[in-house]
Amino acid sequence: MSADPSQALPADRYCVMGNPVSHSRSPWIHARFAELAGDRIEYGAQLVALDGFADGVRAFIDAGGRGCNVTVPFKFEAAAIADRLTDRARIAGAANTLRFENGEIHADNTDGVGLVNDIERNAGVPIAGRDVLLIGAGGASAGVLGPLLNAGPARLVIVNRTADKARALADSHQPLARVADTLLQTLPIDALTHPFDIVINATASSLAGVGVPVPAAVLRPGTLAIDMMYGSASHSFLDWATANGAVPRDGLGMLVEQAAEAFFDWRGIRPPAAQVLAELRAVVDGQAAR
Ligand code: ATR
Repeated sequence: MSADPSQALPADRYCVMGNPVSHSRSPWIHARFAELAGDRIEYGAQLVALDGFADGVRAFIDAGGRGCNVTVPFKFEAAAIADRLTDRARIAGAANTLRFENGEIHADNTDGVGLVNDIERNAGVPIAGRDVLLIGAGGASAGVLGPLLNAGPARLVIVNRTADKARALADSHQPLARVADTLLQTLPIDALTHPFDIVINATASSLAGVGVPVPAAVLRPGTLAIDMMYGSASHSFLDWATANGAVPRDGLGMLVEQAAEAFFDWRGIRPPAAQVLAELRAVVDGQAAR
């Protein structure tokens, strides 16, 4: 039997760039996707200086890199340095997935579709026709708002500690909301007196250790309450959701689903995201128990 000649070629190189980045689960997820797909890639984590993102990307391209994921705090810069952007990255003004092709940087944002896929496929909750509350108006919210609207909720309310930022985010997305036939509103926090079907925390409030920035009136039994973070950063929100009868969900599913979209963009193969999510959850839970 002759050896497979493709095994002699170096694997295509990818990475995740961020600061900090050592906590990132992306190398584990992409290695597992490649293994399950019978594909060969090399995927590492690169710590990039806070003022060195563009240089870091150029150096990675020069070293033969084919693409990278981008995490905090570089998602806006990633969109800014791109030669081409997908519609969803342009509307978000932020990118989490870069592909290097013919000397050009192509940028996409897979966070929103990752969240939508996690809600609809993994949690089994359709978004169409539902009432959705999005808490926060920073980069995390901007990245997911377009795909959430594309999923066709009846109403989507944005609340934020700084109300002006919520209004600006809503204004920039009204054309999409009209296409989706969604009522897109902002409300002051003290006007939140009714329950929603789906509540999404896209703030850093758990990290800040300040408790949940909305009243429990937004929850009813069965509300899906998602924090876009996972691990200890999500605990205070998820504990609050559980205590108020909602169904808690952390951001691990979104993380795996956004990675699956990036893998598809790079490799043209759809990995089994639900399987990898179950495996990753076992790893994370095992580490937390130690
Ligand atoms: P990211 O890009 O990760 O979304 P960001 O742009 O700093 O980060 O936005 C963080 C979000 O968390 C914002 O909506 C922020 O509210 P403000 O716009 O008022 O700053 C929200 N946030 C951060 N700390 C908060 C806190 N202690 N209470 C309520 N909201 C908080």
